[in-house]
Formats: sequence, C-alpha cells, structure tokens
Amino acid sequence: MIARMRKDLSVPELIVRKREGGALKNDEIQELIAGFIRGSVTDYQMSALAMAIYFRGMGFEETVALTLAMRDSGRVVDLAFIDAPKVDKHSTGGVGDKVSICLAPLVASCGVVVPMMSGRGLGHTGGTLDKLEAIPGFRVHLSVRELRAQLRKIGCALIGQTEDLAPADRRLYALRDVTGTVESIPLITSSILSKKLAEGIDALVLDVKVGRGAFMKTEPEARELARCLVRVGRLAGKDVSALLTDMSSPIGYTVGNALETAEALEVLHGAGPEDLQEITFALGAEMLRVAGVAKTKARAMRQLELALKNRTALAKMREVVAAQGGDARMVDEPDRLPLSKHRKVVLARDDGFITDMDPLEIGHASMRLGAGRARAEDGVDPGAGVRLHCRLGDEVREGDILATLYASRRALIEASIDRVASSFRIGARRPPRRGRIVEIIRR
Ligand code: URA
Repeated sequence: MIARMRKDLSVPELIVRKREGGALKNDEIQELIAGFIRGSVTDYQMSALAMAIYFRGMGFEETVALTLAMRDSGRVVDLAFIDAPKVDKHSTGGVGDKVSICLAPLVASCGVVVPMMSGRGLGHTGGTLDKLEAIPGFRVHLSVRELRAQLRKIGCALIGQTEDLAPADRRLYALRDVTGTVESIPLITSSILSKKLAEGIDALVLDVKVGRGAFMKTEPEARELARCLVRVGRLAGKDVSALLTDMSSPIGYTVGNALETAEALEVLHGAGPEDLQEITFALGAEMLRVAGVAKTKARAMRQLELALKNRTALAKMREVVAAQGGDARMVDEPDRLPLSKHRKVVLARDDGFITDMDPLEIGHASMRLGAGRARAEDGVDPGAGVRLHCRLGDEVREGDILATLYASRRALIEASIDRVASSFRIGARRPPRRGRIVEIIRR
C-alpha cells in the first residue's frame, strides 16, 4: 500500500540534496515514488532527480529503498501457493541473445518454476518477446490470473511485463531514455530488480553482458553493475547471483526473430551452437543452484544434460507453446518458422581467419532489415535478420559465404549489406578461442 505524500516533503529540496551529493532517506524515496505515480511529483522533477542520481550515485540503502518503492508502485504477484522454488533469469541484453527461449523450459523440466519475463527489442538489441512471436499464434501477454494458472499447471511461462507490474519503473525508464540518464548503476539496478521482485520469485540469476554489443563495454563496469545487482537483490531478501558473459561478437549464428527462435529450439533438440549451449548451461546450472535443486555445479550440469537427453525439456517447451496459443509443431520443426523471401549473401574478400565480427554493426543491420525497431511503437518483421556462416577464429577462403541477409524488401537488404560486410575482419592469424563465461558473482 502506497503512503500519502507528507505535506512537508519538498521535492526541490530533495533534488538539491542529491545534486550536492547527500543521501535520501527511505521514507523520502517511498514518498517520491508514490507522488510520481499519483502525479504530485512531475516528470520534470523526476528527470532532474534522475540526472542528480546519474552524477552523484546512490548508496546501497538508497538503491534498495528505490527498488522496493518501485516494486510496490504496482501489483506484486503472489506465487507462494506453488510449492516449488520460483526462479527467473534476466539478461542486460545483447546481440543474438536467444538464451531465455531454451533456458526457461530446460530449467523448468528440472523441477524449478520459471516465470520468465522478458522485453521487446529496441535499437541494436533484439527482444525475446519479438522472437517468441515468430511462432504463429504465440501470445506473450498473459493476465496475472493466466500466469498463475499456467505456472501451477506446467511450471513455466515465457511472457511480457504486465501493465500493473512496477509502473513507476516503466514511467521513470521512459524519462531516462530521453534525458541521457539510462547509464547509471543505481538506476539500472532498481529498474531491473523492481520488475523482477514484483514477479513473486524466490531467486534470480542475472546475465550481465560485457563488450561492444552490450550496455557495459568494459569488465570493471560490468562487474560493478553485477555486484550492485547481487548486493541490492540480497538486501531485498532474494538469492541473487550474476554471470558476466562476453558480448564482443553475436551469440550463435543468427540475429533476427524467427532465425533466433529456431536456433534456440535446436538447443532443446540437443544441438545448436556451442556458445549458446555454453551460456544456457552456465545460467541453468546457477538457477538450479539458487533454487536449491542441485548442490554442486557438476550435479546441476548432469540434471540439465539428462533433461535434454530424455527430451523432457523439449516436451516442456511444447507444453508452454501450446498453453500460450502457439503452433507447437514448430518446436519439432523449427525450420518451418517463417523467413523473409528476399535474401542476399556477403562473401569473404580475402583468405584468412575471422578475427572480428562487430555485434553492434550486425545488430543495427538486423534492425534495419526489419527485425528490430528504432522506436518503441514500431512493429517488427519476424522473418528478417542475418544468418552468420562462420564464427570468430574460423578459416575462410575468398568467395566463401560469411552471412545471408533476409528482408521482406530488396531495398532493405541493399541498405544494410555494406554494414554487415564491414562488420567482418579477416586476418592472417587465428585469434585465441575464448569462452563466453567471464566470471560468476555471488557476493
Ligand atoms: N534494463 C532495464 O530493465 N532497466 C534499465 O535501466 C536498463 C536495462
């Protein structure tokens, strides 16, 4: 329940205090967020405060208070009636990141309830909801009643954020997006955690991406964000851990909606690209650990492998797709997912080794082909995107196919092809192979 705004609370004074580097008290933060939702704290005051926080930061206690106030600005889903651990995963977003689609049913088939709540693509990063909607009929928006019923029945859902979860975050994020205040660790932390805590989960595993294709470009920045998320999540009473994962090249061989969904489904068939499997297994093992379902990483890995081998993970995905109105035949025949009819290939101009594939360039090209959106209100083309035919370190010869572009109109391909071609670098020496998992942060 939101408290009424105190008569003596002066919003300008709070903004000035933060601007001068002072701390806000717990009850002041609660009242600010309550006032923001009611309209007594204006958008321009919240934007000014966000800028002050951007420059001055927030202590852990303030960040916890902001997280909880935003969580409580809307509905908090009660999943206590389900007698099993409830665990979600959140990724800070990357290029080719289709992990949620294979991870959720895999972990759910090991006895953990997974209310996987994801977002839409914006800019160069794709969104899990857009990828799932490439499955004909798949409905990502469930009511809280439907979500609870589905979790009770099959223990897994792949959904979008409902309107009434953490509305203060949605409004504040919209302001941050247009006022240059997104890249603030306390604001990112409270934004991510407020939504996740409102889902009624017991524990959370975070995939904090690091590299050119990610929010956090360097390891120290990504580590600082991961530590803040873990610490604030724990102070808010949840078991939270984070994996730092490399985002210096696209994940897997596909970037685009149907393309990525098909690739994630391959993992459930026991195949799929090595790096996608690596990230899925690392996050899955950590989810089983925080859920208390597996005591060691080795045991967790065995459980995940068994769920793939005996096809319970695949069966779980069929159940999820059918429950959410999708055509479950696609789970067994991912090649039938729709792809755009215009195609064009990019060829290698030299002999040598692939030394670089810029994820930002490939992500932007995929967006321009129609797979992503420049503005939140735009639609996406499920069949558009880029298929990569090589990985970092592969040897190629002049004339080999490096990538295929897909779009609904030839002009879209012509506008993007140079961008994809210039994202590859071919050199004389094979670069060292690196795994995707940089570090696990539990404290
Ligand atoms: N993702 C979120 O949900 N919020 C942020 O502030 C940044 C990334």
